[in-house]
Amino acid sequence: MNFKPLNVCITGGAGFIGANFVRHWLAKTREGRVIVFDALTYAGNVQNLAGLERDPRYVFVRGDICDEAAVRSLLEQHQIDTVVHFAAESHVDRSILGPDDFIRTNVVGTHSLLKAAKTSWLDRKTVPAHRFHHVSTDEVYGSLGPDDAPFHEASPYAPNSPYSASKAGSDHLVRAYHETYGLDTSVTNCSNNYGPYQFPEKLIPLTLINILLGKPLPVYGDGLQVRDWLHVADHCEAISLALARGKSGDLYNIGGNSETTNIHIVRTLCALVDEYLAGRADLKAAFPASSAARGTHAAQLIEHVRDRPGHDRRYAIDYRKARRELGYEPTRDLAAGLRATLEWYLSNRAWWDALLGRDYAAWVEKNYTRSQPLR
Ligand code: NAD
Ligand code: DAU
Repeated sequence: MNFKPLNVCITGGAGFIGANFVRHWLAKTREGRVIVFDALTYAGNVQNLAGLERDPRYVFVRGDICDEAAVRSLLEQHQIDTVVHFAAESHVDRSILGPDDFIRTNVVGTHSLLKAAKTSWLDRKTVPAHRFHHVSTDEVYGSLGPDDAPFHEASPYAPNSPYSASKAGSDHLVRAYHETYGLDTSVTNCSNNYGPYQFPEKLIPLTLINILLGKPLPVYGDGLQVRDWLHVADHCEAISLALARGKSGDLYNIGGNSETTNIHIVRTLCALVDEYLAGRADLKAAFPASSAARGTHAAQLIEHVRDRPGHDRRYAIDYRKARRELGYEPTRDLAAGLRATLEWYLSNRAWWDALLGRDYAAWVEKNYTRSQPLR
């Protein structure tokens, strides 16, 4: 990139990775502003950004990325020169139950942002230089067999869920705006993230919370599906590096070097929580239904349930291009990262209690029967 980002718009900045990135960026830079643009869907939460309102460089604007006029006026009002685009519907299970929102936000919404960026940056020339960074996923590449080589940047797109198909569509639109109009763009395709502020519908926080509450731990099918886990802080660093060093029009795969089966992750979390709570009378009192408090083993809560339709068997990421061209390397070991994540969820019970009591519980009730996988 031939300029230093100054005023950065972070779409989806009230979600899991977006909020981590907002904190990361404000801590890393000294100049310019961070303008969070977020519709606050079920997954967006202003609590993820709590404390930042005291920072004069931080601005929060509630809005929908599908509203092109609102985005255009935001870009111009704040002299935004960089968009880091996280806003999306992100949960595969929800995309299977209701794909429409995924097409609207991920495809139409990304296109609306690109149109606004083109009008402001290329047609009206509101800033001297710009970058549109699109945050995407390894799921666009489809599924690997056990002995297949990991996905690399030239792997063909073969999305299998409405979620991954909508992300693939958005990636293609970003590419088209670069090739056709000359928009300065970059894309990162990242593997499974975990860490603070992750909404408790995703495997790791759902498992941790269910262990603490003594609830069943749903494992889809045989649990031998493989994901490559990455701590969210490493993902944030990778995006910063892509902004600083990524070539316009290019894409970079970001992985964690931590390929693991789902059942291994769930069993590891069971052992971790049992061990962590064992000598802690205070935590056992706070979580009386947990296996540690009841003298049982968390692994007894595991239930193999009906598999996710179209479930991708294995993802693995070859991130050598990001290492070579960006200087990216994941730094957090999975075992240490999971332990730190457990500590974060233990220290932030009010955060997830509020979510479980909110529309999430009602949504689960409405959309899933007991014969279906989520609880
Ligand atoms: P999330 O579901 O936690 O957050 C999404 C955010 O987008 C929420 O704050 C939500 O309010 C906002 N949003 C949704 N629709 C919007 C709209 N129409 N207008 C404005 N804001 C809207 O998602 P996440 O897990 O933080 O993922 C962020 C991005 O990273 C997504 O694009 C996702 O595809 C990608 N990604 C996620 C992972 C992962 O493991 N979670 C891995 C790779 C890539
Ligand atoms: O690979 C990157 C993707 O990772 C992101 O693009 C998505 O936004 C993000 O949601 C995530 O998708 P997954 O479907 O891999 O994440 P999830 O946490 O939903 O599931 C991880 C694995 O665990 C997956 O194989 C399904 C399985 N699973 C999940 C849940 C919620 C279970 O076995 N039981 C569960 O209860």
